[in-house]
Amino acid sequence: MSLFFFSPRFLFFATIIPILVSIALYRLDTFDPAHLPAEALAYSTNSIPPLFNDRFLTGADFIGVGRLNSPEDIAYHPDSGLIYTGCVDGWVKRVKVHDSANDSVVEDWVNTGGRPLGIAFGLHGEVIVADAYKGLLNISGDGKKTELLTDEAEGVRFRITDAVTVGDNGVLYFTDASYKYSFHQFAFAILEGKPHGRLLSFDPTTGVTRVLLRDLYFANGISMSPDQSHLVFCETPIRRCSKYYISEERVEVFIQGLTGYPDNIRYDGDGHYWIAMPSTVTPLWKLGMKYPFLRKLTAMAAKYGFDPMFMENAGVLQVDLEGKPIALYHDHKSSHITSGVKIGNHLYCGSLLHSHIMRLDILKYPAQKKL
Ligand SMILES: *[C@@H]1O[C@H](CO)[C@@H](O)[C@H](O)[C@H]1NC(C)=O
Ligand SMILES: *[C@@H]1O[C@H](CO)[C@@H](O)[C@H](O)[C@H]1NC(C)=O
Repeated sequence: MSLFFFSPRFLFFATIIPILVSIALYRLDTFDPAHLPAEALAYSTNSIPPLFNDRFLTGADFIGVGRLNSPEDIAYHPDSGLIYTGCVDGWVKRVKVHDSANDSVVEDWVNTGGRPLGIAFGLHGEVIVADAYKGLLNISGDGKKTELLTDEAEGVRFRITDAVTVGDNGVLYFTDASYKYSFHQFAFAILEGKPHGRLLSFDPTTGVTRVLLRDLYFANGISMSPDQSHLVFCETPIRRCSKYYISEERVEVFIQGLTGYPDNIRYDGDGHYWIAMPSTVTPLWKLGMKYPFLRKLTAMAAKYGFDPMFMENAGVLQVDLEGKPIALYHDHKSSHITSGVKIGNHLYCGSLLHSHIMRLDILKYPAQKKL
């Protein structure tokens, strides 16, 4: 055996070559994350509620286990008592829930051929779907007809049509999280830290799609206020939800400095919004959001199959109409919770990862003051 392998010269090359290769790869990689605005890195004690349920998996049960493939958003249709949810295999599914979770019935309703995310009910019995790949869809109530309403604005195509809410005036308000990255690349949209999201409206009487706000950071969940004066929408990477006043065309902060990354937001018809957070701010996320080079390294690793979206301690934050936090339902063993909908005494949660809808009786397992 040659002594070369033990020589100082070999050790020199064995260390220096991988370092040089790494530097070259880093430099050649064109992914160029940005610094986030200072307020996006801040935390606010005003976002911390007085009440907590820190173990919301305890007592929770699971609906449609194995029959729902990543049910991201969920919408409750009170007339039929059915829950509609969009799955990663393109199916919009309908769930008839039962007191005993295992007896709930899941029906494959309509397959969009895309990735249905946000779901809302139109004023004429139709179901409106924000499909990440397809755009904004109108599915007739009988499920027989699917029509594309819009997939671009100002000549720029949507690439992650994300969430939708319907005004009493019939106008559809929705978000496009990114016009640069498509849904399967959403991790890069988050890691890049640049605002490619838009808040939009579609008026079915005129067929016009309008850009209400641009330069948003991964514009995600959206909900119409009960008095119809404004929308509340979430920007995930900067942990903020804002109000958009429709007639004044004015923006105001609703809640910011959240302890997690906000996804869908839902109004419960009873004075509260529910903001789902798929992950809390872990120490790694905190560092990564501060330093763009860490996000670049993460993105490079992601190109070789590393999943950068490590999420933990997911939950749902209940806030009042002014954005004042009331209660947080979460669990350190939970992740990827993307929607929270209150139906009766239960909180129903959708997910970007799991193959079920989670349900918790919040009368039986309420959030409480910490001792
Ligand atoms: C529901 O089904 C799951 C999985 O099949 C099982 O582990 C659980 O015990 C069932 N629960 C009830 C209440 O039957
Ligand atoms: C959706 O399509 C139905 C016909 O299937 C129509 O009656 C309804 O007005 C449409 N809704 C929107 C918002 O375009």
